[in-house]
Amino acid sequence: MTRNVIVTGGAGYIGSHACKALRAAGYVPVTFDNLSTGWEDAVKFGPFEQGDLLDRVRLDQVFAKYQPVAVMHFAAFSQVGESMKDPGKYWRNNVIGSLTLIEAAVAAGCMNFVFSSTCATYGDQDNVVLDEDSVQLPINSYGASKRAIEDILENFEQAYGLNSVIFRYFNVAGGDPEAEVGEFHQPETHLIPLMLDAISGKRAALTIFGTDYDTPDGTCIRDYVHVCDLVDAHVLGLKWLEDGKGSRVFNLGTGKGFSVREVIDHSRAVTNQEVPYVEGGRRPGDCTKLVSGSERAITELGWRPDRSNLAQMIGDAWRWHQNGHYEK
Ligand SMILES: NC(=O)c1ccc[n+]([C@@H]2O[C@H](COP(=O)([O-])OP(=O)(O)OC[C@H]3O[C@@H](n4cnc5c(N)ncnc54)[C@H](O)[C@@H]3O)[C@@H](O)[C@H]2O)c1
Repeated sequence: MTRNVIVTGGAGYIGSHACKALRAAGYVPVTFDNLSTGWEDAVKFGPFEQGDLLDRVRLDQVFAKYQPVAVMHFAAFSQVGESMKDPGKYWRNNVIGSLTLIEAAVAAGCMNFVFSSTCATYGDQDNVVLDEDSVQLPINSYGASKRAIEDILENFEQAYGLNSVIFRYFNVAGGDPEAEVGEFHQPETHLIPLMLDAISGKRAALTIFGTDYDTPDGTCIRDYVHVCDLVDAHVLGLKWLEDGKGSRVFNLGTGKGFSVREVIDHSRAVTNQEVPYVEGGRRPGDCTKLVSGSERAITELGWRPDRSNLAQMIGDAWRWHQNGHYEK
């Protein structure tokens, strides 16, 4: 029997990798995407349905056509800086868009829902390893919008029995080792691709945003997870729901933090090239340190984030970066 999964945001960075993993696991990933930040070229592993989360009629058509066993919901706006300047854009697309999708799923009887949340829901909690029970105190509109969606999912479980697995990602990096899909955001805001752009001369220099944070070298610390490990967790989360294990929240990270300067040092070792960089001021909304406690995903889902080391993440991103990109 065909097991369709609606993948919102399947034309984006993480969603396209999820589609590849879903197909490998025997599902049919149906990408639902409005191509606002995604790429039709990235939809390679199943059907494409163009549409917007805010369009309930279009969502209902797609649910009726595919009768999915689950939804994997990646579609969102996700730039912290932009969310501080234009919060309405984030509340409308992320929260109202997700609410529209969740209502369409419940109306169609599709009661398994996997959601991309973020460590940005925890906010700035210095020197704390963040586990799933840590208090959520987002300091930017992006994180606040994601926490609101988590609340909606909880309420819809109470009211209608919707089962959800919520993944709170730390920093996602790397790419498909076969380079069929990769990271290609425009504009790019993530450290590793920006660094590779600077190395390859696509931009003059990497800007380090803030060198006066309360960290050993003054730059922000983040926990990096390989996108292929991340999407493997999603397939495990889907099986968890199909096995009737109920709603659960999981962090996805490695528990190890690296500063911006440490990432630059690692990239030198991987690419054999210097990273041109300049030092700039802090960006509004950036937290000092975000490091995950991810034991729960390992012990309960059986997740093995074997590829989540900086050498492999930078190496896979570098291979894609030199050859891969998408065209509108
Ligand atoms: N990249 C990271 O490090 C990271 C970290 C934490 C959480 N996340 C979350 O993971 C998810 C995917 O991130 P990504 O880096 O792949 O982003 P992305 O921008 O590459 O992908 C998002 C996709 O969603 C689509 N989309 C956006 N709004 C839509 C709408 N209203 N209707 C239909 N499609 C819409 C875009 O066209 C795009 O293809 C997001 O929810 C993001 O918040 C990402």
